[in-house]
Amino acid sequence: MIVLGIETSCDETAAAVIERRSDGTPTILSDVVLSQVADHAVFGGVVPEIAARTHVEALDGVVGSALRQAGIVLTDVDAIAATAGPGLIGGLLVGLTTAKAIALAVSRPLVAVNHLEGHALTARLTDRLAFPYLLLLVSGGHTQFLAVQDVGRYRRIGSTIDDALGEAFDKAAKLLGLPYPGGPAVEAAAKRGDGHRFALPRPLLDRPGADFSFSGLKTALRLAAEAIAPLSDQDVADLAASFQAAVTDIVGNRASHAIASFRADHAEADALVVAGGVAANEAIRATLRREAAKAGFRLVAPPARLCADNAVMIAWAGAERLALGLTDALDFAARPRWPLDQASAPLFGGGVRGAKA
Ligand code: KG4
Ligand code: ZN
Repeated sequence: MIVLGIETSCDETAAAVIERRSDGTPTILSDVVLSQVADHAVFGGVVPEIAARTHVEALDGVVGSALRQAGIVLTDVDAIAATAGPGLIGGLLVGLTTAKAIALAVSRPLVAVNHLEGHALTARLTDRLAFPYLLLLVSGGHTQFLAVQDVGRYRRIGSTIDDALGEAFDKAAKLLGLPYPGGPAVEAAAKRGDGHRFALPRPLLDRPGADFSFSGLKTALRLAAEAIAPLSDQDVADLAASFQAAVTDIVGNRASHAIASFRADHAEADALVVAGGVAANEAIRATLRREAAKAGFRLVAPPARLCADNAVMIAWAGAERLALGLTDALDFAARPRWPLDQASAPLFGGGVRGAKA
């Protein structure tokens, strides 16, 4: 089957076409991502209204490019999958309404996809991974461990109680005078710095469970920077390195707890998957690889392009759902908040205070 996917939940306008054979073999026929990052950079973060307007202006063209690159027309598509949440409501409405209109026009089913499920199932497309596996999703809007048990079956093992990790990187960059998005800039600066110079806190380290907290670390970074201002280039590099050292310690510790908890329910599983924009960070990947190996797990990290926001993952999640006969009615409403694990009681703060809240 051939599925058109549409992603507009944050600041990427994306469309993609994938094919899924009946034995589950995937082929990416096209993958178009129009990043709005330059439109938002001057504001130091995503401005929801600007994002929604840009999606309106760009989406027709992006869908057209995805079809052209795939060498197909709309009537060749078996279903239209679109992100229906969680995310910025203006953007979600643009993508979901467009998908509904196409579905209606060509009489094909609509699949309303949870953006997090898109991230969660990507490793099945890239690595043909079997269920169950443990996922760490770390992006600008989300930081959580999920047991991925089956399509539509997820259990949250831990999540942030305040900022998302990508958001913490972005805020750290802003206060150090580094450009947006902050993650790559902080990582680059950290390479030139001394991670031992500033003793920054590691919130929740060694506490039971696998939850995260980053707001105290962010405050400590600000106080350390203010105490030695004005900052030289080397100060910035040392602060970035100290921040990243604290983050990697936290992520490693939380990962070891999450693996132990996951294992208790799934003795046969052996894969830790990392997804989301922060998965591009080499220091974090190395830490996760080490913690996974200690527990006899392997780390699966899809290519950076498919870890960050894209429509291939939405098309793929749509195809996985369609293969199980799961489609949605045209009155499906977009959901700004939509946890994958509906059973887990929401944590204080919910861990979704980022751009995608
Ligand atoms: O998944 P993504 O592209 O979009 C969201 O869903 O948020 O993730 C973007 C986030 C940003 O906060 C960005 O600063 C962070 O991922 N990021 C990084 C790195 N590259 C991107 N964080 C740390 N190190 C990196 N190399
Ligand atoms: Zn995402």
